[in-house]
Amino acid sequence: MTDLDAQARAILRGNDKGGYTLPTHGLYPYQWNWDSAFAAWGFATFDNSRAWDELDTLMASQWDTGMVPHIIFHQPDPGYFPGPDVWGTGQSPATSGISQPPVAATLARLIWDMDPQAGRDRIAVLYPKLVAWHRWWHEVRCTHGPVAIIHPWESGRDNCPDWDIGMAGVDGTRVGPYTRRDTGHVNPDMRPTKEDYDRYITMVEYGRSVDWDQDRIVADGPFLMADPGITFILLRAHDDLAAIGRALGHDVSEIEGWAGALRAALPALWNDKLGAYDAKDLRTDRFAGILGSGAFLAYLADAENPALDTQLMRVWNAVTYGIPSADPESVSFNPRKYWRGPTWPVVNALLALGFKGSGRTDLAERLRSETETLIRQHGFYEYFDPLDATPCGGADFSWTAAIWLTWARHHPDTALKGAA
Ligand code: GLC
Repeated sequence: MTDLDAQARAILRGNDKGGYTLPTHGLYPYQWNWDSAFAAWGFATFDNSRAWDELDTLMASQWDTGMVPHIIFHQPDPGYFPGPDVWGTGQSPATSGISQPPVAATLARLIWDMDPQAGRDRIAVLYPKLVAWHRWWHEVRCTHGPVAIIHPWESGRDNCPDWDIGMAGVDGTRVGPYTRRDTGHVNPDMRPTKEDYDRYITMVEYGRSVDWDQDRIVADGPFLMADPGITFILLRAHDDLAAIGRALGHDVSEIEGWAGALRAALPALWNDKLGAYDAKDLRTDRFAGILGSGAFLAYLADAENPALDTQLMRVWNAVTYGIPSADPESVSFNPRKYWRGPTWPVVNALLALGFKGSGRTDLAERLRSETETLIRQHGFYEYFDPLDATPCGGADFSWTAAIWLTWARHHPDTALKGAA
């Protein structure tokens, strides 16, 4: 074990609150949905049982509707806004009212693969819960074909330019008074603007005003956009969930049906003018016209094509480290601002999983090596400037530590086995 391996383990242990892991102390003091799934994958490299505990804790806060919320507020923390009172979902423990990218089934499958015997009983318990969550995505969020999100935070790529067109339609001028906390933890220049935040909070206030009735929010809420990122993540996760179900001896035809429907909806996300998959404002039926890392998650779902290959190489070759979250040639690009250009090790890991699955081991290795360089140079930061490697956001980040242990450090064949 190297020093960096030891540091990565220490970060996961240090952020462990007993059954769930904080993304990082200070900035994100609760349990986040997809962060938790990545933390579980990291734990699986040295404490398999703790990995399953993480997923159990996440799924324990599933709503009756099947939704798994994006934040679980286990213990009050005044250092974070918007906290449980602002969301007002009435859940216990308190949670937010939106979901996050459903990477859990994909990562649970990888974790199971790392120790099949120890994992069998654990995954058998999780399986029906994951099925219920995927059913929720299908029934509640795929009514327009691709996955629709009701808040940019649901995408996990919170502030990326993909959402600008939908955000422009949200009137943030009548938001109630509030105090941000994020800008007290990290450099405000890297964080969303006040105008963006007014709109984010307006969307939360709307959700609370309709008691988080998701059908109503989809029908009438201030924001509804099709997200290529979650669409591809869910499509991949449907396949992984079906594989888990088959291995457990279940009938998986329902899951296969969801996957078939979602794949059939992909052409609706292809923007010919852009020459790539694109986010779409479902209120106006207009494309965002922005190429972001969500489009490249197509590789994860076996949905790439030669035009996307060309775009990928153009965007990737325009920077030095990792795949940027937004097109460096677009006017919206900012290499240090939240999801508007920086590279995220955790998204790189998902993309590499996709490259490997589609037989592009050369691309997977290039991405691994660039991500390794970032972490070796600067440590386990939340994200990095893809032009000069400046570390950004929170330090000692759980998911960066996790993907170091599972993928970035070396041996992608071990960590990603079974991925194809
Ligand atoms: C930010 C990120 C989101 C992540 C959360 C906790 O909100 O945009 O993807 O889950 O931080 O790390």
